[in-house]
Formats: sequence, C-alpha cells, structure tokens
Amino acid sequence: MNRKYRKTIIAGNWKMNLLPSEVKGYGEKLKCLAPKVKWCEIVICPPSLMLQAALKTFSNARIHVGAQNICTEAKGAYTGEISAAQVKDLGAKYVIVGHSERRQYYGETDKQVNLKVNIAIENGLIPIICLGETLEQREMGITLDHIRLQLKIALSGVPADKIRKVVIAYEPVWAIGTGKTATSEEAGEVCKEIRAQLRSLYGARIARSISILYGGSMNGDNAAELLAQPDIDGGLIGGASLDPEKFYSIILAANQ
Ligand code: 13P
Repeated sequence: MNRKYRKTIIAGNWKMNLLPSEVKGYGEKLKCLAPKVKWCEIVICPPSLMLQAALKTFSNARIHVGAQNICTEAKGAYTGEISAAQVKDLGAKYVIVGHSERRQYYGETDKQVNLKVNIAIENGLIPIICLGETLEQREMGITLDHIRLQLKIALSGVPADKIRKVVIAYEPVWAIGTGKTATSEEAGEVCKEIRAQLRSLYGARIARSISILYGGSMNGDNAAELLAQPDIDGGLIGGASLDPEKFYSIILAANQ
C-alpha cells in the first residue's frame, strides 16, 4: 500500500450469496464492528436486487456500495440487464467489471469489458476492473502478457482525465474460491507490472494515484502480508466478505 498517493480499498463481492432479508442484519453487524474506519474505503457489492437495501443500511455509515455488473448498453430492449445509469441513480458508487466468473461462465469478452468500463465512467460510476490469468496461463509463463493485454483492452478509449476514476483488481483465476492464495511476491509482481503499464499508458503521476486491489482467497490471516506489498492497495474479497467479522479482520489488516 502507499497511502500517500492512493486510496486503500477493501471491497466485498458477495457474488450470488445472501438473501435480501439478510442485508440489514449483516449491515448492522458490520457497522458495529467498523463504526469509524478512516484508514481505508469499505465497499460492499451485493447482488443487484439487494443494492437498494444495502444503500439504505449503509446510508449512515462510511461504507460504500457497488454493483457486480452492468450492461454494455446505455438503455433499451435488453431484458434482464441493468444499466450504469440505473445503478448510479440508486446511489451506488462502484461497479465490478470483467470479473473472471463473468468472463468464464457468461462468455464476457475483453471488448465487452471495455464497453462496460467506458459506460460506467460516463455515468459517474467507478469501475473495479478485474484482470487475472488462469492456472494454465501461469504455468505457460504468459501471466504478465495476458494481464497487459486485458488491461490495455479494458482501458481503450478511457481518456487521461477520467482514468483516476478507475480501480484495478488483480484476481488470479486459480486463486478465486479455491483457498489457494497467490503468494505476496506473486501478487506483488503482477500488481507492479499493472502499475508499470498504467505508467506507460498515462504517465507516472496518474499511475501512482490508481488503487490496485488483490483478490483470490484473501482472508484475515493472509491479508496483512499481501497488503504490505507496495503496489497492492486493497482487496476484493469473495467468501470472507460474507461474514462481517471475517470481513472486518481484513479491514483491520489494512490498518498498517
Ligand atoms: P474469494 O475471496 O472467495 O476467493 O473470491 C475472490 C473474488 O472473486 C472477489 O471478486
């Protein structure tokens, strides 16, 4: 982390877990645990149909809310989709874009990720852009090439005056939900490379201001070591975000 230049962010991605009726209870617990956290920005990304409940629960707290996905299109006949404008209008601040589960299970392409990044920014949402290699790609030694390509396509068309409104999340696919965490060196190396590419695309001042998160089996035990890496500015947490106490142990680990 480097608090001098950029924000530390601890974000929970609930994925398709918890029920609408559980949002309030979760929120009350988290608010009790983390009433005055100033060292990081806390973000909760519930399923879309729980966004409103989460916004209501966290309206009196320093806890922000994000969606897990948006449509590539602005509006119109796209049954089942949710637009960036709708998410923004509800009051959410962030949106996760290009999560590997969407790429893997729903065939989301780099081009679609790029459209979503741009439409999120146009509508005043901060995209949390997910990048990550598969185990096969890591074993082939093409991790950094793959990440550079994903990043370059995701940011295509994003002008320098808007790039500060972007968060990057490095989530190695093989570490998600598997209990296998990348070592802090492995994660740190990729995040360093992401920043190097941001530098070559947008210059040093902008690159050092962008928060890069790590995601993939992060928990209260491994968070401090991962967050001690200079280019890891926070976490995107799945499983461990479902329990307010476990999530809070990661928030605490960010207070270093
Ligand atoms: P886990 O923390 O469950 O591995 O999930 C990480 C993730 O995919 C967050 O977006």
